[in-house]
Amino acid sequence: MKPDQIALPIDEFPTKWYNVVPDLPEPLPPPKEPETGPSRMEYLGRTMIKECLGQEMSSQRWISIPEDIRELYIHMGRPRPLYRANRLEKNLGLKKVKLFYKREDLSPTGSHKTNTAIAQAYYAMKEGKTTLSTETGAGQWGTALAYAAKLLDLGCVVFWVRSVYDWKIDRKTLMKLLDAKVFASPSKETKMGREILSKNPKSPGSLGIAISEGLEYTETHENSVYCLGSVLNHVMTQQSVIGLETIKQFDMIDEKPDLIVGCLGGGSNFGGIALPFIGEVLKGKRKCEFLAAQSAAAPNLVKGEYKYDFGDVAEHTPLLKMYTLGHKSDMVPIRADGLRYHAAGPIISLLRKHNIVKAVAYPVDEKSIFEAARMFLQTEGWLPAPESSYAVRAGIDEALKTERAGVEKTICMNISGHGWLDLEAYRDKLGIQ
Ligand SMILES: Cc1ncc(COP(=O)(O)O)c(C=O)c1O
Repeated sequence: MKPDQIALPIDEFPTKWYNVVPDLPEPLPPPKEPETGPSRMEYLGRTMIKECLGQEMSSQRWISIPEDIRELYIHMGRPRPLYRANRLEKNLGLKKVKLFYKREDLSPTGSHKTNTAIAQAYYAMKEGKTTLSTETGAGQWGTALAYAAKLLDLGCVVFWVRSVYDWKIDRKTLMKLLDAKVFASPSKETKMGREILSKNPKSPGSLGIAISEGLEYTETHENSVYCLGSVLNHVMTQQSVIGLETIKQFDMIDEKPDLIVGCLGGGSNFGGIALPFIGEVLKGKRKCEFLAAQSAAAPNLVKGEYKYDFGDVAEHTPLLKMYTLGHKSDMVPIRADGLRYHAAGPIISLLRKHNIVKAVAYPVDEKSIFEAARMFLQTEGWLPAPESSYAVRAGIDEALKTERAGVEKTICMNISGHGWLDLEAYRDKLGIQ
């Protein structure tokens, strides 16, 4: 028997998260206060989880994962398997190129987002908070936080970008089954939402707007705390379990990836798989390349400018140095809405500046993306989330290019989530009646 699944034993699950900050090629530019208005750092201190803010500024390379969080990780099925994509390789006629994929789609709510949701909910509970408030784009982060909140006996309030809220009915049901309060954003729940709706009652919303609403809700409701599912350093660190497991899995089969591919909105799944590998590349311990797959609706790493910008539309956050399209830029809605964010997180942006992370953006019609997802389903048998399908597309494109050049290569794609609650998008994009 030659199994294509590489399963890491439970007792090999990491005991520490990896923080890449001390290993970066130059110091990470710190968050900055804007020239006008109140202190945004104090604002974050009031609205966010203290332990997470500590991790945000930490230069400690390894951060212990509390035993209670490790137990919850294992409860929800970690370590997750790595697969060799034998059937996809055969379908593509690959002889020189090997394709692997990491299975974050096996998460209970359907994506990698539970890795940081569990940690944030745990720390919030320890700090005596009773309600978690947040934004969500694709709905994956909102569901993950609702799940983590329920496991830890906390309430959860989700501001969900309206253009997605309107069509993801089944995901909404899942959030409500988990007792979350869910609002389409912009909403009438916040001053900022009401202002936007008065100017444009049909506003499709954006992640930047939903973040502003989640923050405002936290400020105006006692004992609630704001949780963010991407972009920030502590989120990348808490997601590092993906890459730490993957390193061990490749070691188990004596293989070394030459290229890691992930989709990228704010950077959390990409950072999760790539940063532990990047750490080793930066220390001269391995050679590997890294490719972020994006949408032309929000090509922050491809077309953005590296500068200080806000993380949200209402300018509640401090300024962060990022590749950004501008925090007020309009971005057309797409089916893979989790990729529609104006900026890539500071760590990923710095690595882009040093050309350690490369990026590609696919057209907004998403046709080739959904075709790649269909091929993945028909060969490997798993349906990726629309966002993850960008990684599949980019992985296939790189594999074909390399094969044509006659070069041997091992490519690993991160399947950040499953698409079982996104079938409406598949019907629409693939013309299925
Ligand atoms: C399945 C999935 N993958 C990827 C993303 C993009 O986010 P990030 O870049 O933080 O991984 C999202 C965002 O919602 C998502 O739901």
